[in-house]
Amino acid sequence: MLSQARQIKIVPDLPSLQRAGADEFVRCARESINSHGRFCVALSGGNTPRGMNVLLASEPDIPWHKVHIFFGDERHVPPADPQSNFGMTRDTLLSAITIPAGNIHRVRAELDAETAAKTYEDELRQFFPQTTNGWPRFDLILLGMGPEGHTASLFPGSPAIREKTRWVVANCVEKLKTERITFTFPVLNHAAEVLFIVTGEDKAEVVKQILEGPSSPPEPFPAQQVRPVDGKLLWMVDETSGRLLKAPRS
Ligand code: 6PG
Repeated sequence: MLSQARQIKIVPDLPSLQRAGADEFVRCARESINSHGRFCVALSGGNTPRGMNVLLASEPDIPWHKVHIFFGDERHVPPADPQSNFGMTRDTLLSAITIPAGNIHRVRAELDAETAAKTYEDELRQFFPQTTNGWPRFDLILLGMGPEGHTASLFPGSPAIREKTRWVVANCVEKLKTERITFTFPVLNHAAEVLFIVTGEDKAEVVKQILEGPSSPPEPFPAQQVRPVDGKLLWMVDETSGRLLKAPRS
């Protein structure tokens, strides 16, 4: 199957963005469980997913025992830290649903960053013994985007941008003077579906360049390098991050 065309959905505001994201999550979960009995999803961090997670927590029809939750990236902090993506997800979703503990695959970010990355990759390799061309195939990877075009913890100019063989790496983020643990581009690009959910006035210019600018610029933004090799790519934006787009509104 060749890579499918990128789809763009522009919605009026943050509540409709969260609703649209939750609906796509439910659709993908249903389709994956119907087709192969489980739904393997990597969640995003930051603030944007909060509202969508809360909506998912009250979705009545998700068989959470058939859902495996992973994290596309994690800050180098313990789960109790306010910066923790796992902690945000626990507070907005995991604490409100009944899901087997073994279905939640947390990055051990309390360890040193390199050990956390290696440990997570080992866990992924055990979970995905059957790979697609040597890469895990997530049913869905949720991503956000920062104002300078980073996604997951793949920041412009950071070492992880060039990683072509490892699944998970510790990445030094100069701008934040910190290390992060992140999926690499090949893992993102071997997903069956990648869903970007982006809000924020400060992202409008980069969203415009990525979605309506040159398709192969000399220095693409990290978010622009996410193109599933044989999967679906869906960008959902609201009228803050998508206000410069000419594309028709939903
Ligand atoms: C993280 C995320 C990161 C996030 C963007 C957008 O760990 O912060 O994985 O890639 O998606 O920075 O963050 P907001 O949703 O807070 O704007």
